Amino acid sequence: MRVVRLESEIDFAGWRTAARALRADGVSPEAVVWTVEWDLFSPPPRGERPEGGGGGAAISERTPPPQPLPSRGRGFTVPAAFLELAEQVILHRAPDRFALLYRILWRLEREPRLIDNPADADMARARDMAKAVSRAAHKMKAFVRFRLVEGAAAETYAAWFEPAHRVTEAVAPFFVRRFTSMDWTILTPDACVAWDGERLTVSEGADPADAPSEDAQEELWRTYYASIFNPARLNPRQMRQEMPKRYWRNLPEAALIPELIEAAQDRAAAMVAAPPRQPSDRVLKAALRHARDASYEGGAPTDLDDVAAGVQVCRRCDLWRDATQAVPGEGAARAALMFVGEQPGDQEDLAGRPFVGPAGRIFDKALAEAGAPRDQAYVTNAVKHFKHEPRGKRRIHKTPDRGEVTACRWWLDAERRLARPKVIVMLGATAALGVIGKPTAIGAHRGRPLPLPDGAQGVVTYHPSFLLRVPDAETRARAYAEFVADLRLAADLAGVRTS
Ligand code: URA
Repeated sequence: MRVVRLESEIDFAGWRTAARALRADGVSPEAVVWTVEWDLFSPPPRGERPEGGGGGAAISERTPPPQPLPSRGRGFTVPAAFLELAEQVILHRAPDRFALLYRILWRLEREPRLIDNPADADMARARDMAKAVSRAAHKMKAFVRFRLVEGAAAETYAAWFEPAHRVTEAVAPFFVRRFTSMDWTILTPDACVAWDGERLTVSEGADPADAPSEDAQEELWRTYYASIFNPARLNPRQMRQEMPKRYWRNLPEAALIPELIEAAQDRAAAMVAAPPRQPSDRVLKAALRHARDASYEGGAPTDLDDVAAGVQVCRRCDLWRDATQAVPGEGAARAALMFVGEQPGDQEDLAGRPFVGPAGRIFDKALAEAGAPRDQAYVTNAVKHFKHEPRGKRRIHKTPDRGEVTACRWWLDAERRLARPKVIVMLGATAALGVIGKPTAIGAHRGRPLPLPDGAQGVVTYHPSFLLRVPDAETRARAYAEFVADLRLAADLAGVRTS
């Protein structure tokens, strides 16, 4: 049994060095114990905290190690995609993350396609963990609120924050860019990061009592929040999801929430009675800035996070009224391959992510068979809100009309401009309408590239839900095979096909 002691909970360099040595020695995952606990007899190699990202992990043996297998570790290159994933996963709070990553690394040597297999339990878990880490980083960027430190010699600000995962050091450069000319410290239970206008320093985690609690900026935040609050969209479940309760006590604007909820019903009735309106540029602009940094200029979103924030306050059509939330696209920021679906379904509306329900499952299966890696693509929908009608307890899907598709093209066009895909796959007729701007028969155009005016290649194919609905098994199997072939064609054209 080998025991690996890492320098800290986020010691990626240490994990990597140790994993490399273990793999070269042919030590199987079951024979390794990963820990960050240091005892009196084996102190950490360099003080209490790593300064440069670790790398000083120590491996000790409880029992003699297995004999190294001579061929192991040679001729095997760790895929860059795995290292990127591992760097994220290390920041997750799950205690078994080091072991999970080593197991995947070990298996990769024998199963080179593992990284692209969405159905594999280890890979699925690692990807879920990476997503959770990325969400935690996003929340930290959105919800950190600085307060003036009273009595400090120079003007200094501090914020207390409890991130869901250990993202503090990873997110710090964002705050440096955003508040370059301010002296600030962010205190978290895991680590504190401080910027003095020139240098960023990292120290041990802190106690909430170390952060100041009140100052005049609170009032500014409250005014701002009250102005962007939309009572007709009041949805406590979504609110909790977007701004989880754990963050409320550090947010000045949270004090307003009960009051705003009380007043919401009347204001909502008035808003519903009013005629539909175009999104107010002020609201859109404020929400975009609120959700990310101040990079927003003019009317058009400047990055995909701006799009994700903007669709939440979009009023270009009426579909926002009945939806839980808008579902923005997700995936690689510069993707050679873009997939466009119709609109979120019931499960996507609840999860806030595209293609995670039954259609998503068949889509993922076909992608895997076609060798088209979803994580290298950008996946979105022609329409960003779920159109449906209630039937008993169920919400029945309704196809968006041409006006709704046209209204939402503003966002789809922005996503195309920002992600700059080489190939756009249109999943079904609504997607084709959104991308091409006019009705296009799928049967007549599928199976070959369709040049688009912006220089990208289009590929039209069936919508995954259509494949679920074909009643006759033989026809269904043929349609599915054609669907896989279309995805393969798209992955080839984009140059991302893995098999
Ligand atoms: N159908 C779609 O078109 N998009 C989704 O995101 C889910 C189902």
